[in-house]
Amino acid sequence: MISHNVSPNDPRLRLPDEDGISKAVAELEQGRLVAFPTETVYGLGADATNDHAVASIYEAKGRPKFNPLIVHVPDLQAARRYALFTPLAEQLADKFWPGALTLVLPRKADCPLSLLVSAGLDSVAVRVPNHPIADQLMEGSGLPVAAPSANRSGGISPTQAVHVLQSWPDVNAPGPQVILDGGPCAVGLESTVIDVTTERPTLLRPGGISVEEIEKSAGKVWHADGAPDRPRSPGMLARHYAPGLPVHLNAPSAKRGGALLGFGPGIQEADRNLSPEGDLKEAAANLFAMLRTLDSRQFTSISISPIPNAGLGLAINDRLRRASTL
Ligand code: TXA
Ligand code: MG
Repeated sequence: MISHNVSPNDPRLRLPDEDGISKAVAELEQGRLVAFPTETVYGLGADATNDHAVASIYEAKGRPKFNPLIVHVPDLQAARRYALFTPLAEQLADKFWPGALTLVLPRKADCPLSLLVSAGLDSVAVRVPNHPIADQLMEGSGLPVAAPSANRSGGISPTQAVHVLQSWPDVNAPGPQVILDGGPCAVGLESTVIDVTTERPTLLRPGGISVEEIEKSAGKVWHADGAPDRPRSPGMLARHYAPGLPVHLNAPSAKRGGALLGFGPGIQEADRNLSPEGDLKEAAANLFAMLRTLDSRQFTSISISPIPNAGLGLAINDRLRRASTL
């Protein structure tokens, strides 16, 4: 819910001067959230290599699902550390970066980015934003920055710093403690998202750069069927990482020969525990990595303890339900 009752003197709002930037860099380095301007919309940023920091993004947004997030990098060379570029991807990056184009690419095998930014997919969305403040943040921290638009889930993307405050009026709720004010965003529309993991480039979300413009460089761009702003059309969802083993939800214990992925205290003989303290943020941070670990020949199934269906638990359960039915 948007609150219009916010103060322009809120201490979270910071000018992007030396002080403001170094405070924001310190927040990122410590695994906390920073709202910052890009040329498209304001982003809610976190260290993309830190599972807990990325989990805080979902927590703060109140997202009911783990949608994959865009990773922001300073240039093409940095992007190559995380993702595989085909000649077509190189060509698009050359032409449109920095700018409002996000490329979905295969993750490199040794990719150090959190699995949570990919929501379990074997692809990653990357973009080089065209904004001096975003640049200073990435250069100052040396970190890739995962950032969805800086609004609560279902809200409208913010194009001014004060819009970000309206999403998090309560300073004590999980949200950014630093909001860099860079004035209004020049583009004001999210980036165009193109999937180049497929043989044919596919439009996943229309945005700041028109398809016509992209087609001048890329040739024909295909449209994903299904609603825009969805990671993939349902038929393509099989590419979502799902364990090869059968998954049983709300399980009190492991099946014979199977593994138990526990949650919370008092779970005996769990092979892994998403969070022994019952902390949903910790569970979200561990989810994809632990599922991958347990999905091995050593076991015949994966049973998962009940997880409360509130807060981040909604997204965790959504993801697990899909893992158990695929
Ligand atoms: O302009 C923008 O893109 C802004 C600024 C902050 O950069 N960011 C933004 O992020 O709009 P977000 O999280 O609100 O939107 C990310 C979009 C979603 O439609 C998501 O489904 C898609 O990118 N996406 C991200 N990673 C993906 C992946 N691996 N495969 C398919 N789609 C992906
Ligand atoms: Mg958004």
